[in-house]
Amino acid sequence: MANLDLTDMDTASVDHKTPTSSPTVLVSRRESFNAAHQLRDPKLSDEENARMFGKCANLHGHNYIIEIVVAGQIDKSTGYVVDLKQLSDIVCRRVVEDVDHRNLNADVPWLEGRITTAENLALAFWERIRTELPEGSLRSVRLWETEKNWAEIGGHV
Ligand code: NI
Repeated sequence: MANLDLTDMDTASVDHKTPTSSPTVLVSRRESFNAAHQLRDPKLSDEENARMFGKCANLHGHNYIIEIVVAGQIDKSTGYVVDLKQLSDIVCRRVVEDVDHRNLNADVPWLEGRITTAENLALAFWERIRTELPEGSLRSVRLWETEKNWAEIGGHV
C-alpha cells in the first residue's frame, strides 16, 4: 500500500528539517455489480411496506455502480497515492463478491436487518472498505443505484 500518512502537512511548518509536503491528492476507483432488492421493513406488514415504499417494495433489480475516493499524498517512489489495482481488489473482496447477482435482502449476511436503500447500502460498503485502508484515507463511497440516483458517505458532509 502506498504511503497515505496525512499528518505530514500539519508538522511541516514546525519541523524545519522536513521538506514542504506535497498536496493531498484524490484518486478514485469504480466497480459495478448487478443485484436484486426490495425496500421492505421486516417489522411492517406487506400493506404497510407497500404504502411506505410503493413499487420499490416489490423485488426488482439494479445495475449498481460503486465509486470509492481515497485521499493521500503521492508516494515518491511509485508516483501513486494508492495502487488502484489494490483498491479494486479490496472493493471486490469486501463488497462486490458478496453482492453481485444476489438478492440483497436475503443473500448477504452483513446486510441483514437493513432496509436496502442506496443510503444504507453505501453506509454498509463504507464500513467494510474503511477497515481495509489506512486510517483516515477513505474520503467517500458513492453508490449509484440508477443513472439518476446516488447516495454518498463522506464527501463534503
Ligand atoms: Ni430499487
